[in-house]
Amino acid sequence: MSSTERAARALKSLKDEEWRTLAGLERSAAGSGTSDLGRLARMSRLPPDRVRFATDALEKKGLAKRKGKGYALTIEGVEAMALKDYVKKDLIFALGAVIAKGKESDVYEALTEEGTAYALKLYKIGRVSFTSVRKKRASEPAEFRSWMTANYDAARREYHALKKLEGLSSVFPRAVSYSRSTVLLEELSGVRLSQRPELVDPAATLKKTIESMRTAFIEGGLVNADLSEYNILTDGASVWLIDWPQAVEAAHPNSMDLLLHDVRAVTAFFARAYGIESDFQKDFDYVSGKSAVPE
Ligand SMILES: Nc1ncnc2c1ncn2[C@@H]1O[C@H](COP(=O)(O)OP(=O)(O)O)[C@@H](O)[C@H]1O
Ligand SMILES: [Mg+2]
Repeated sequence: MSSTERAARALKSLKDEEWRTLAGLERSAAGSGTSDLGRLARMSRLPPDRVRFATDALEKKGLAKRKGKGYALTIEGVEAMALKDYVKKDLIFALGAVIAKGKESDVYEALTEEGTAYALKLYKIGRVSFTSVRKKRASEPAEFRSWMTANYDAARREYHALKKLEGLSSVFPRAVSYSRSTVLLEELSGVRLSQRPELVDPAATLKKTIESMRTAFIEGGLVNADLSEYNILTDGASVWLIDWPQAVEAAHPNSMDLLLHDVRAVTAFFARAYGIESDFQKDFDYVSGKSAVPE
């Protein structure tokens, strides 16, 4: 079972005092990493004996762990809070199957009460080092704090980037909400372009991708900055440009270099995988707004 599945399972059994204790742990983790029972009691506004009881229960459910004299949150604890948040806001009702495991995240299907499916992206930046550290049973509070910072920031950044792109084109997934290290997205169909699926019209797919990069840049004011065949989904006809946490504002001093890099990655892939040769300079001029007409 993954941390996310454990978090979803724990969700059902958590009592109000346990949630309050988790929230207290989250607040103290952002500051010092661990919290002793006294501090936790103040943070959760619960009597010390109730906090002791709640931390014991949270530890058994894998949502918190003992650290020296104090307690710290686990990734399961973080994800349980995020899931609870979405449930409370009536956004999701159940966690479905895993859709994909990416470079920096796991993506699960999440279902609304009406049965609509969203894609829930749970950031796992630093997963490898974090797991190996945990195996040594030495994961330090400072390490967890930096894990939280990196993953909470990525989720928030991706949400805000996608909000800027919302409504400009259906190639950008709609962001529904975000919480902690997770972001809730419109679910897309399709496979990664890196799998080189058969395309109805590869030249048209490239054209649409180039146009969409221009839309993001000119109208949305954003460069993806990590665009490649791994962050483009397709069903053979339509494309979607995904994975926006590292997006950079058009006004950023490096935006042109990053845009150049994105355009190069995309055009080189279409040449390599589909034999579609395009004039890189013309593509770049079009995407960056230097010229008004595509190649
Ligand atoms: N909105 C979505 N709908 C369906 N699948 C998605 C969605 N977003 C991501 N995925 C799947 O999850 C994978 C990883 O997502 P991505 O945003 O690229 O994160 P990572 O940073 O982990 O690469 C994608 O390659 C894709 O298969
Ligand atoms: Mg990706």
